[in-house]
This record gives sequence, C-alpha cells and structure tokens, in this order.
Amino acid sequence: MRRLLVLAFVPLAAGSALHSGTPLVIGHRGASGTAPEHTIAAYDRALAFGADYIEQDLQMTRDSVLVVMHDPTLDRTMRGAPADCKGRVIDKTLAQIKQCDAGLWFNERYPQLAKPEFVGQRVLTLEELFQRYGDSTNYYIETKNPEDAPGMERRMIALIRQNTLGPKNAPRGRVVIQSFSEPSLRLVHELAPKLPLVQLIEKRPVGDLDAAFARIGSYAEGVGPDKRLIDAEWMKAAHAHCLAVHPYTVNETEEMRRLLALGVDGMFTNFADRMRALVPGPRIRMARYCASSSWRPRDE
Ligand code: G3P
Ligand code: CA
Repeated sequence: MRRLLVLAFVPLAAGSALHSGTPLVIGHRGASGTAPEHTIAAYDRALAFGADYIEQDLQMTRDSVLVVMHDPTLDRTMRGAPADCKGRVIDKTLAQIKQCDAGLWFNERYPQLAKPEFVGQRVLTLEELFQRYGDSTNYYIETKNPEDAPGMERRMIALIRQNTLGPKNAPRGRVVIQSFSEPSLRLVHELAPKLPLVQLIEKRPVGDLDAAFARIGSYAEGVGPDKRLIDAEWMKAAHAHCLAVHPYTVNETEEMRRLLALGVDGMFTNFADRMRALVPGPRIRMARYCASSSWRPRDE
C-alpha cells in the first residue's frame, strides 16, 4: 500500500524498479535547514520529520576524541573565547571545544529561523550521539579529511562496536559509512568488512563510468554523488554494478522530484520534512540495490 502511495506521488522512470526499497531520507547534518547543524536540536528535529538516517561528519580533537562537526575549523559554527573556539579542531582538546556554543551562529546568520533553545547547544562527541539515540535511528557517518586525523577509522569502528550498532549486534545498515576518501573507505572495509560503505563523489570520474563503478563496487555498496552529476546514464551504470545512488544535498522539492523520477535510492537533504512529504514512511534502512541480495530493507 505504501509503495503504491510512493508511485502515486512520484512518477518513477521506466526500469527503475524498487530493488533497494523506498528511497532513503537522509537528514543531512540533522535537520540543518531549520536548526544548527550537527546539534541535538538538529538531530531531534530530523527524527521528528521522519528521517530514515541522521548524517554525521567526523573530526578529531587534539586528544583524539571524535566529534561531530563538518568543518576542520571551529570558526564558522562555534562561538566563545577565541583561544578555545577559533582555529583547527585538531589543535584543540575536547574540553576546550566543549566550552563553545554550537547554536548561536545559526541565530546570528538566520534571524528569521532563530530560536532561543538553539543558544547553548554543544558539540557532540560520536559517543554522546550514540548514547543519546542508540538504536532508535540509523546513522550515516562521514570520515572527514581522514588523512589529517590518523586513527579516525579505528576509533569510529571501536565506538560503533562498543555501542552495539555494528552488523554483529544490530540490523545490517544501522550504520552506513561514507567518505570522499577512497583509502579511508578501503581501510574501513578491511577493518570491518560488513559495514556498508558509500563512496562520495564530487566530480565525474575521469574516463569510463563503468570502469569507475566496477572499482568502487569492489569495496562499497553505494555512491553519493553531487546531485548535479546525476542523469539516466549515471543511474544505469551505477545500478549495473549494484551500487545504490544517494545524491547530496537536495533541498528543493522540485529537484527531489527530478531525482526520484531518475530512480535514486536515497538523498541527503537539509529538509527531511520536504522529502518525507514525497516518500511516505515507515522508516527503513539501506539495502543493496540488487534484488539477489539477502539484505532486508525494512525494519522488522
Ligand atoms: O556527505 C554527503 C555530503 O554531506 C557531502 O558534502 O560537505 O556536506 O559533507 P558535505
Ligand atoms: Ca557530509
């Protein structure tokens, strides 16, 4: 019935059978279109909007703690004493960064969306995030600039395991790992071969798409391209290699419709509510694109 609803709302291209299930709603940095990114306020909101996944970017502190933050520097999204709240994340301790306000910048930059409760939000460690949300959601985690933070992958995997969110203890797809860095994904694949991986792609691969997807398909189960790269040729080539396609960052309803019609398997969006209006629930997890997979896309 729900699938019929999707078809009624979104005209799918011929041949784009729903092998991987209904498209995933990925709350990009939480509900970052209406709340300060990567804060509890943004994640709570994304879940209230019905996101299937909440997305995290990882940075590492000087004392080797993984924190959920997009930029390698604190300047854009942190407010507070410059000694603690300006400069590179990797040069500060967690105690320093915890002094900073992670929501004030949003009220300053978007006065029309400002809310008093955004003031006083704090940066989250990956561990705090897992402890707050546990198995009530799915996580889509990006190793960000991993070449500047050796050990990031090992620490991330240890936290996933300690919090019983990995494939051994939780339904497969509870956690998906993404990166622009192929070496980082290959390392995760080596250390935790059952974790589903998604290769982010900023520019069209040089040469033959088919060859690029064959290579990616040897370690990853999906690609996360810039939305401007996607067309029918791209979709066909990715799906031919059993790769799910999750473009970023799709915020306007019209572009969501266009990409859904092309047959994408999910989208990163700052506005999970807009996508959820096009793709009715219930919440689902990532499934392999190919029908032969033993993956179960829906929550039991
Ligand atoms: O992770 C998908 C998308 O978020 C990649 O771009 O810069 O927002 O992390 P960015
Ligand atoms: Ca990201």
